[in-house]
Amino acid sequence: MIELTGLTKTFGDHRAVDDLTFTAPSGRVTGFLGPNGAGKSTALRMVCGLSRPDSGTATVDGTRFTDLPRPARVAGVMLDASAQHPGRTGAEALRLAAMAAGVDTSTVAPMLERVGLADAGGKRVGAYSLGMRQRLGIASALIGDPHVLILDEPANGLDPEGIHWMRGLLDDFAADGGTVLLSSHLLTEVQAIADRVVVLHRGRLVMEGDTDALRGEATQQLVQSTDLDALTSVLDEAGISHEAGNAGLIVDAPPASIGELALTHRLVLTRLEPSGGDLESAFLALTRSA
Ligand SMILES: Nc1ncnc2c1ncn2[C@@H]1O[C@H](COP(=O)(O)OP(=O)(O)OP(=O)(O)O)[C@@H](O)[C@H]1O
Ligand SMILES: [Mg+2]
Repeated sequence: MIELTGLTKTFGDHRAVDDLTFTAPSGRVTGFLGPNGAGKSTALRMVCGLSRPDSGTATVDGTRFTDLPRPARVAGVMLDASAQHPGRTGAEALRLAAMAAGVDTSTVAPMLERVGLADAGGKRVGAYSLGMRQRLGIASALIGDPHVLILDEPANGLDPEGIHWMRGLLDDFAADGGTVLLSSHLLTEVQAIADRVVVLHRGRLVMEGDTDALRGEATQQLVQSTDLDALTSVLDEAGISHEAGNAGLIVDAPPASIGELALTHRLVLTRLEPSGGDLESAFLALTRSA
């Protein structure tokens, strides 16, 4: 498992990661979620020993990454999918990763097959699509047969089929007792791939729990009506909390309750949709309740 304890990193006077404590347990896929600039990559780089924390510790299986005798056999890492040399073929890149990890290069062909690149192994990485580079990056992370995976934005650039594929791969990995920690700035991606979520906002932990709990936090509706003032009064009378959003009212109630209320009071709704699909409103809900 991966454990972060009081991890802190400051650049100049900007605290990018602020007293961050959480655990990514084995057997689970933990999503590390936060908007651009929240500090996800900074935290993951510290976990992988690429950057030194100002204070706090990060361990993999109880040991600091830099103290692991053969790190690639313990933890597979993908921090930047575009880091592969564009002039090498996918198979060459993976062969180098295998040698660096100290495993037999006979593992390369089955690994290309496993990530769906069997036909593209002879192609130069420079000619790969973004999604293919992500698959190659995951193959490089897996080549040492680790039981921990640390992936920074692995779903970036994947199409829906690719996301589905990744979920299957990571689920299998976790079902075998593996630990997965992956970052994303998209709530929908984390919902699709992870079963646990850690939410980071301005370097600080905002929430840690099951993905379903986050979905629950985000079940607010965006409501618009031809008579917003009347709708506001009706919601107030019904004791349903709401606030003004950019495109209408953000209402804390299931869609059916809002629809029934509108029907009873003969109000026309011009919009009724979940407002919790985006990270920002989930954050608002989280920080309000915090
Ligand atoms: N080497 C550095 N020097 C100075 N500031 C840095 C450095 N690395 C990161 N930062 C700053 O730290 C903050 C967090 O950056 P980080 O890359 O960790 O965010 P992130 O959550 O990974 O964002 P994204 O979703 O865009 O990848 C940002 O304000 C960034 O500008
Ligand atoms: Mg990042």
